[in-house]
Amino acid sequence: MITIRPATEGDLDDIVRVERAANSLYAPYGFAAHIDALSTPRDAVIEGIACGLAWVAQDAEAEGSALVGFVLAHACDRDLHLDEIDVVPSRLRRGLGTRLLDVVLEEAGQRGAERLTLLTVDFVPWTLGFYAHHGFRVLSARELDARLLDALALDPKSVAPTQRSFEGRLVLARNLQAPAGSRR
Ligand SMILES: CC(C)(COP(=O)(O)OP(=O)(O)OC[C@H]1O[C@@H](n2cnc3c(N)ncnc32)[C@H](O)[C@@H]1OP(=O)(O)O)[C@@H](O)C(=O)NCCC(=O)NCCS
Repeated sequence: MITIRPATEGDLDDIVRVERAANSLYAPYGFAAHIDALSTPRDAVIEGIACGLAWVAQDAEAEGSALVGFVLAHACDRDLHLDEIDVVPSRLRRGLGTRLLDVVLEEAGQRGAERLTLLTVDFVPWTLGFYAHHGFRVLSARELDARLLDALALDPKSVAPTQRSFEGRLVLARNLQAPAGSRR
């Protein structure tokens, strides 16, 4: 049985292993020599753990560390931003990515976040379908404010206002419904 629980600093090495395994999917797309460079900086994971915005999926019946998934977010003004979501290749397409995303959506709802945003790429077959299925839409450059561009380290000059791709990277967002009467 796979359970999802908050990550701890004791998971850090295993999170690296999960991320590396998931990012190996990018190898055929020109990233074979750069898989390690795709990993989230350790400090960012530690910060996510401290902020209660990092979770791992653990297979209670597997041997070893048994971590099979990881998700990390950070607060960005009134939004929550999804930094990373990973499922190890042997567990893909069984709903685990959805469960990890749901944990973040639930947390975003509890924090009263207005949107869940993320940065992804348009050149692999698994990202846009996954996020579209979960109610995300691609934002155009015109819809991005300076703060979000800055938080995502995107250069507004690298894309025309009506366009959406920052050199192959796309910003997606899902609006979150705040409960009636909640502070926005
Ligand atoms: C994105 C990711 C977390 C999804 O995990 P998952 O456990 O496979 O997701 P789920 O099983 O909940 O959802 C699967 C859905 O995603 C989409 N999807 C996943 N892989 C796909 C692929 N190779 N081609 C097309 N659609 C795909 C489909 O809509 C699929 O639904 P279906 O199986 O009914 O067709 C996983 O692919 C992953 O870890 N990828 C590598 C790391 C990565 O790219 N992370 C996202 C960075 S923005």
